[in-house]
Amino acid sequence: MAEGKNLIGVDIGSSAIKVCQLKEGRKGLSLVRAGFCPLPAQSIVDGHVMNAGAIVAAINRALADAKIKQREVALSISGQAVIIRKITVPLMTAAELDEQIQWEAEQHIPFDIKDVHVDYEVLRRRPEAGQMDLLLVAAKREEVNDYLEVARQAKLKPLVLDIDAFTVQNLFEYGRGIPPDQTFAIINVGATLTSINIVSRGASAFTRDIPNAGNYVTEQIQKQLGVSFEAAEEAKCGSAAPQPAFGAPSVQTIVETVCDSIASEIQRSLDFFLATSGEPEMHRIHLTGGTSSLPALRAAIARRSRVPVDALEPMERIAVEGKEVNPDMLRTRASQLCVALGLAMRKDREKRA
Ligand SMILES: Nc1ncnc2c1ncn2[C@@H]1O[C@H](COP(=O)(O)OP(=O)(O)OP(=O)(O)O)[C@@H](O)[C@H]1O
Ligand SMILES: [Mg+2]
Repeated sequence: MAEGKNLIGVDIGSSAIKVCQLKEGRKGLSLVRAGFCPLPAQSIVDGHVMNAGAIVAAINRALADAKIKQREVALSISGQAVIIRKITVPLMTAAELDEQIQWEAEQHIPFDIKDVHVDYEVLRRRPEAGQMDLLLVAAKREEVNDYLEVARQAKLKPLVLDIDAFTVQNLFEYGRGIPPDQTFAIINVGATLTSINIVSRGASAFTRDIPNAGNYVTEQIQKQLGVSFEAAEEAKCGSAAPQPAFGAPSVQTIVETVCDSIASEIQRSLDFFLATSGEPEMHRIHLTGGTSSLPALRAAIARRSRVPVDALEPMERIAVEGKEVNPDMLRTRASQLCVALGLAMRKDREKRA
């Protein structure tokens, strides 16, 4: 692992702030602190910061509750603010690539290149073909600056900016390793976004974010049963069961219907990948994100994909150290902590691979 001190992982999700602090010891990583603070609705809409004050307050609350004092953090972004493409370019040296990357990006990114930050990772060199495969990542400056500004207002020092899907992949890799001969998907189903990352031949081969997730389930319960968003949220999470009006569908029926619609959108992406990548099959699907707690979602994805589906277990190889981590929070919110945990693996003195 890289040199240096672990950064605090700060996940600014659309429904809640999640923060984690990891420590690296001789036996590996341990979780020393973790915090969670919900955000008021509409604080972030379509990846845009709408209510910076509320986000700053929630970040500070999550950090204070977790007793985290360190200010150097890693952040991540996702959704429409990010475009990730696997591209093939002529074989060249690292220095040549640094010079060429803007031009290459321009050919593949549907935005004005001046409006995006561009980064890349070399996936594979293929000297026999005179080519190399890259993972090209472009993030819109406006959204990136919004997130950095919120972090600065919260008196944080952001040293790393990552992508949600890659942080979860890093966490998965730490826990299980990436099987080089398998094709599998890691799917993060949050409140507003379902993000799919297909890993094949040891690296990310396809990513797509679908703007449909847990909030849609809640909104349908709200609409069809005529209850508040909060009541619908409680009903969805199983802590309260509103009495459906005569003739109205049950909560379970609504949840199952919406989960099936999310699963069908996921399946379209999986089918597209299998049809275009040349990979013969998908071996497994690992689910994470708060909405993956819905058994109906897992069942719907398994039914449509006919692939084994399980929950990504974030703490598989991470010990819990000390008394600061609330075991109830860790148990009930493990699936929501994956991005923050992956971010907390990042260091302050990393060198670029
Ligand atoms: N036990 C549960 N059962 C069902 N849904 C749950 C449960 N716990 C949390 N959720 C749902 O998970 C979602 C929040 O998950 P998560 O924290 O991963 O999202 P986020 O990171 O805030 O959102 P996004 O990544 O979409 O911006 C909410 O829609 C919430 O209702
Ligand atoms: Mg999220």
